[in-house]
Amino acid sequence: MKILVTGGAGYIGATFAFEALKNNHKVLVIDNFSNSKPEQILKIKNIFKENFEFTELDLAKEYRQLINCVEVFRPDIVVHFAGLKAVGESQSNPIKYWDNNVISSINLIKAMAINKVKKLIFSSSATVYGDSKFQPIPETAEIKSMSVYGSTKIAIENMLSEVAREGTIDVVSLRYFNPVGSHKEKLIYEDPLNSPNNLMPRIIRVALGIDKELKIYGNDYQTKDGSGERDYIHISDLIDGHFSAIDFIFKTHGKKIFNLGTGKSTSVIELIKTFELVNSIEIPFKISKRRPGDVAICYADPSLAKEVLDWQAKYNLSDMCMDAWVGVKDHGFN
Ligand code: NAD
Ligand code: UFG
Repeated sequence: MKILVTGGAGYIGATFAFEALKNNHKVLVIDNFSNSKPEQILKIKNIFKENFEFTELDLAKEYRQLINCVEVFRPDIVVHFAGLKAVGESQSNPIKYWDNNVISSINLIKAMAINKVKKLIFSSSATVYGDSKFQPIPETAEIKSMSVYGSTKIAIENMLSEVAREGTIDVVSLRYFNPVGSHKEKLIYEDPLNSPNNLMPRIIRVALGIDKELKIYGNDYQTKDGSGERDYIHISDLIDGHFSAIDFIFKTHGKKIFNLGTGKSTSVIELIKTFELVNSIEIPFKISKRRPGDVAICYADPSLAKEVLDWQAKYNLSDMCMDAWVGVKDHGFN
């Protein structure tokens, strides 16, 4: 199959592109390196010389080139990972997020429609549920924005629903919970040097000795130990979910939404303790005040994906902590 992967130089997109190539698909990656590096593409190119192409392009700004790319490559399906994802930055620079995330998606849909490419998998996020009172959260829970980033994901989902209802494209929207770790080859991982906001890359910075200690954002939530609870999911399980969604989308029409999570809720302190145990590394931490915009608990009800996509997460928290650390340390950061 021919797969167009937007944002395929990033953490999740590059891991997906790598796995798609391993499965003998032809892949065209589009990325503008706004949050990734060309080295990521070189790593993939060095391994898959035959079926891999790359085009550097800004989806929001280079519409003509995008149409041309789709016309020449003629993908069977598009997997749309490209987007900016830093919640804090989105609050201080809303226009940048609306412009980049929403305009990119509109341009992509138009380029698909012109070239009669019908199938789209979209990277959505559990952030669309806001501070849901339903835990675990089913796909039917109310949608509520807690940030500009969340608003852009909701807007794109709404646009995709309307375009799919009218019949131009078929869409599967995957709402990711908290992806962590690295795939089996340990070739692609979240770069801990790239000022991360997320918990796992920050734990890794402490493990590497870059930061002295981790700040835990609040220990006074109504949770099992007072720290925030999330649904961490191994990147390999997340990527598997995409291949199940690809199988499914060729048998369906319209727009469908699936949570990709494990259904297990883990606190910040539990994640730190598991990381320490499986990697034999101490992670010093201190309790600091709550981070604005954070919710106490957010974990998935993944039963719809199990029932319809025949997909469920296989890896546990220890696997995630081991694979997050090995992925980074084996590549010479320490
Ligand atoms: P990432 O930043 O590593 O990758 C995103 C890629 O998109 C980057 O390589 C970036 O350069 C590219 N990009 C951004 N804007 C672009 C544009 N206008 N034109 C071309 N390329 C552009 O992020 P990731 O963690 O791999 O996330 C992938 C997707 O999954 C994003 O849409 C994100 O919102 C979503 N998501 C991520 C998480 C998470 O915790 N990582 C959780 C939920 C949803
Ligand atoms: N946390 C800390 N210290 C840190 C970083 C995070 O205590 O240095 C805590 C947070 O307060 C939260 C938990 O760790 O309780 C997880 O935080 P992350 O930033 O790793 O993840 P979030 O759940 O806040 O958000 C992530 C992505 C969003 C995405 C969401 C989907 O950043 O883009 O998961 O659930 F939408």
